[in-house]
Amino acid sequence: MAKKKSMPDSALMEGYMPQHIAIIMDGNGRWAQQRLLPRTLGHRAGMSALKKVVQTCDELRVPFLTVFAFSTENWKRPETEVNYLMNLLVEFLHRELDELHRNNVQIHVLGDYEATPPKCQDEIRRALALTRHNTGLIFNIALNYGSRREIVDAAKSISKRVLSGEIQLDSIDEHLFAQCLYTAEMPDPDLLIRTAGEKRISNFLLWQVAYAEIVVSDVLWPDFTPEELYRAIKEFQGRDRRFGGLKK
Ligand code: FPP
Repeated sequence: MAKKKSMPDSALMEGYMPQHIAIIMDGNGRWAQQRLLPRTLGHRAGMSALKKVVQTCDELRVPFLTVFAFSTENWKRPETEVNYLMNLLVEFLHRELDELHRNNVQIHVLGDYEATPPKCQDEIRRALALTRHNTGLIFNIALNYGSRREIVDAAKSISKRVLSGEIQLDSIDEHLFAQCLYTAEMPDPDLLIRTAGEKRISNFLLWQVAYAEIVVSDVLWPDFTPEELYRAIKEFQGRDRRFGGLKK
C-alpha cells in the first residue's frame, strides 16, 4: 500500500510562510556510502527527494524555490560523476516537465548552462520555453552556478553601462546591483536550508542570503522528506527576524 502522505499542521499553514526557500542539497555521496552503493545512486535518490520537495513547496504556496544542483566547482569531481549528474538533470526534466508545467511551475536556471553538454542545454531550453508564462511556483535550478562569478558578472555589466554613458557612477546602488544578478526581480531567500549537517554557504547566493535564516538539517539529502521541510519552516517561523534593527 502506498505510504500516506503526512499533512502540514494548521499552525504551520497559519504561520508566515517563507517567500523564497534556497536549498543546498548535501549528503548524496554519504547516503550512498552508508549503503555501500556508488555515489551516483546517492544522486539518483537525491533526485527523488528533490521531486517531492518541489511538489511540497508548490502545495504550501511558497512562491520561490532555488536548489543548488551543480556548482562551478563541481567540475573538479571525476568525469563519470559529472556526466551522471548532467544526465540526471536531463532525465529529471524529461520525466517531470509535463507535470511541472501542468502544476503551473515556472522553471529558471541560474548559472552558465551553455557550458553543459548539448543534450542538457536542449532539455533546459525546452523547459524554460514551455514554462515561461506559468504563474505558480518559481523553481530555480542553480546549475554550473557560483556566486562569486555571478557577482563579478554583475560588476562587469554595470561597468559596461557606466563606460557607455548609459548610467552614472552615482546611480549604482544596492537595488541596481541586485537587478544585475541572476535573481533579478526575485525576492532574496528568507530561508536557507542546508542538509547533511554542514555549516557552510559554499559560494551559494552570497549576496542574496544576507538576511536569510539558516536552518541546518542533519538529514542527508536523499532522506529529506516533506516532513523535514515542514520542520525547517517551523524553525524559520519561530525565529525572531530583526534585519539589524531591534525587536518589535
Ligand atoms: C551534494 O552531495 C550534491 C550535489 C553536488 C548534487 C545535487 C544533485 C542532486 C540532488 C541530484 C538531482 C538534481 C537535479 C537537478 C536533477 P555530495 O555529493 O557532495 O554529498 P557528500 O558530501 O555526502 O559527498
